[in-house]
Amino acid sequence: MQENMKGIFISMEGPDGSGKSTQIELLKAYLEDKGYEIIITREPGGTVISEDIRRIILNKDYAEMGYMTEALLYASARAQLVTEVIKPALEAGKAVISDRFVDSSAVYQGMARGLGVETAYQINSYAIQGIMPQLTIHLDLPAQVGISRKKNQAELDRMELEAIDFHERVAEGYRKLASLDPDRIKTIDATMSIDDIHGKIVDYVEPLVKK
Ligand code: ADP
Ligand code: TYD
Repeated sequence: MQENMKGIFISMEGPDGSGKSTQIELLKAYLEDKGYEIIITREPGGTVISEDIRRIILNKDYAEMGYMTEALLYASARAQLVTEVIKPALEAGKAVISDRFVDSSAVYQGMARGLGVETAYQINSYAIQGIMPQLTIHLDLPAQVGISRKKNQAELDRMELEAIDFHERVAEGYRKLASLDPDRIKTIDATMSIDDIHGKIVDYVEPLVKK
């Protein structure tokens, strides 16, 4: 996050089905109770333009989409979200909780697709305009568990339809990324109960809350 910003920026990361949306709702209630105005964003999405880009990225008819195209589309959706929502919210002192952010590109495009983590961050340096989360929660879950949770939910999208070894590279990629930046990225075992995970998240968020 840039120096002159007053808000709190937290991102939630992890494989598909790891419980990000569930935990974001609980974290929202916690931060509201502390007096924060909360903005929740999801990626790709969160603005009219970004949601349109999301429809293109996740369309399961577009099996021919190139990995670089995919990476650039995620970055475009993110650029619009940062400009239109995240930056203004942080400047206004709000708490922003993002369901995925740039680390998703580092892991999915950089590691699982094989473009390279450096390339993924490089592409995204234009999109994020210097804004990074102060805290990233990594919900660590075996790929198979996440996918079976998703299968109980809705129709699977283009990414969720990838073979299991892709999702295994994602789960492993997150572990590696977290080990490279342990000050910012905090790993939590997402096989625990919903309440226990929330408790761990609160332990990490509490020091960021302004008294
Ligand atoms: P994500 O946003 O990461 O895709 P969700 O929060 O939508 O994940 O959770 C995916 C599914 O798993 C939902 O049906 C949710 O109720 C369930 N779920 C979430 N957290 C847990 C948990 N700790 N244990 C078991 N099931 C969970
Ligand atoms: P979404 O439904 O938001 O994720 P989840 O299934 O975890 O609720 O779908 C977003 C998909 O896009 C998900 O499979 C992860 C992937 N993704 C990337 O590959 N790169 C990115 O930069 C982002 C933000 C998401």
